[in-house]
Amino acid sequence: MPCNTVILISGSGSNLQAFIDSAQSGRLDATISAVISNRPAAQGLERARDAGISTAAVDHTAYSNRDDFDAALREVIDGYQPDLVILAGFMRILGADFVRHYRGRMLNIHPSLLPKYPGLHTHQRAIDAGDTEAGATVHFVTEELDGGPPVIHARVPIEAGDGAELLAARVLEQEHRIYPLAAQWYAQGRLILNGNRAELDGEALPATGFPFNGTSD
Ligand code: GAR
Repeated sequence: MPCNTVILISGSGSNLQAFIDSAQSGRLDATISAVISNRPAAQGLERARDAGISTAAVDHTAYSNRDDFDAALREVIDGYQPDLVILAGFMRILGADFVRHYRGRMLNIHPSLLPKYPGLHTHQRAIDAGDTEAGATVHFVTEELDGGPPVIHARVPIEAGDGAELLAARVLEQEHRIYPLAAQWYAQGRLILNGNRAELDGEALPATGFPFNGTSD
């Protein structure tokens, strides 16, 4: 049975597109049963509709507090009974109850080499710090913001003269490779969250996640 997957987005949805393409080409054994956005105008919803995937918007501005928003979002997600929930550029902080409900079956991608630079403006912060490399990390979602156990990371060089936008584009290319791969490991039952550690094939993953080197085996 393909892994029943719900994807949450807020924006352009290029990671979502990578999931759609991977599922269509057979590299990802998943059925994307819905794409849900907190922004009704998110471009990613268009991508989902183009691929014939159900969409929903749960507009956070319509809720006066986080708990109500989380409850509404959870109800929509659970209507699809997903095996896996993917945060793909979903830019709302989720409350502890919500996160606990999906513990072990919710992944996020963050555009930095975690634990460096949780939060926003990761690329500018890496450039300002004089770092020579940046990257992205897929991790299980726990109550700690961008702090759950890493699954896989990819590194990219920071070149002299790079601006945040150029660097973001370079990192995104890698995001599109590592995120569907992590989901495929999950779909195959190879990737689990065991207590507070991510395990692949029964072995604890390194503290910063599996170092992606360009191949997907
Ligand atoms: C991606 O770079 C993703 O890593 C980042 O938002 C972008 C979404 O792009 N996520 C976060 O910053 C989460 N904290 P996309 O909509 O084109 O996939």
